[in-house]
Amino acid sequence: MHIDIITCLPKLLESPFSDSIVKRAIAKGLVKINVIDLRAYATDRHRSVDDYAYGGGAGMVLMVEPIDRCISDLKSRRTYDEVIYMSPDGEPFRQSLANALSLKQNLIILCGHYKGVDERVREHLVTREISIGDYVLSGGELAAAVVTDAIVRLIPGVLSDETSALSDSFQDNLVAPPVYTRPADYKGWKVPDVLLSGHEAKIEAWRHEMALERTRQRRPGLLADNPDEPGNIPAGER
Ligand code: ADE
Repeated sequence: MHIDIITCLPKLLESPFSDSIVKRAIAKGLVKINVIDLRAYATDRHRSVDDYAYGGGAGMVLMVEPIDRCISDLKSRRTYDEVIYMSPDGEPFRQSLANALSLKQNLIILCGHYKGVDERVREHLVTREISIGDYVLSGGELAAAVVTDAIVRLIPGVLSDETSALSDSFQDNLVAPPVYTRPADYKGWKVPDVLLSGHEAKIEAWRHEMALERTRQRRPGLLADNPDEPGNIPAGER
């Protein structure tokens, strides 16, 4: 997979990909992440990428021309599955979308800044808009890092234990069950007996029950979206 991230603040994206799972995925050649400085596509000698909003009001707006030049340049080198714009009013980012995007070959992620981008970018250049939550960040960079991380760990071969992504929270609309490690008894705080029993089927059943229980308590809305759980009403039929 090839991910090109366009930003006017490339330094913000230096560390998120330089450690842990994403770093290993890059080293294994499973993903290439390219951070592109939008200023390289500016047309004036001040390397401006933003300007005042027509009609007035506080805040600068990223200009259409440098973004168009940048995206055209990238598209001249490869074909992209999606041009994603990170925005608080985009489609909510969920595990199901991470799964779908992890199957793509080439992605562009555009980070907004200041007041956002000229609307013509959204109308003509972007194929998808994603929000990572109902709050406003200073820019799209951290959101792009979140989306990239969630996608990259799902690329086949990235996780050493291939099944571990399947047992993540949200993979089946359930949050993850509790996990424990040694010691089995710490200050009298005990690990549940079933996990020490060595009985695989019982452990699986316990984990599923705990995942259900936790989801009921913490995220009941997820259960309503899970058609596989008995007693749940699919979202469209509520
Ligand atoms: N840019 C600013 N806030 C954002 C958010 N919540 N999600 C995605 N991009 C953003």
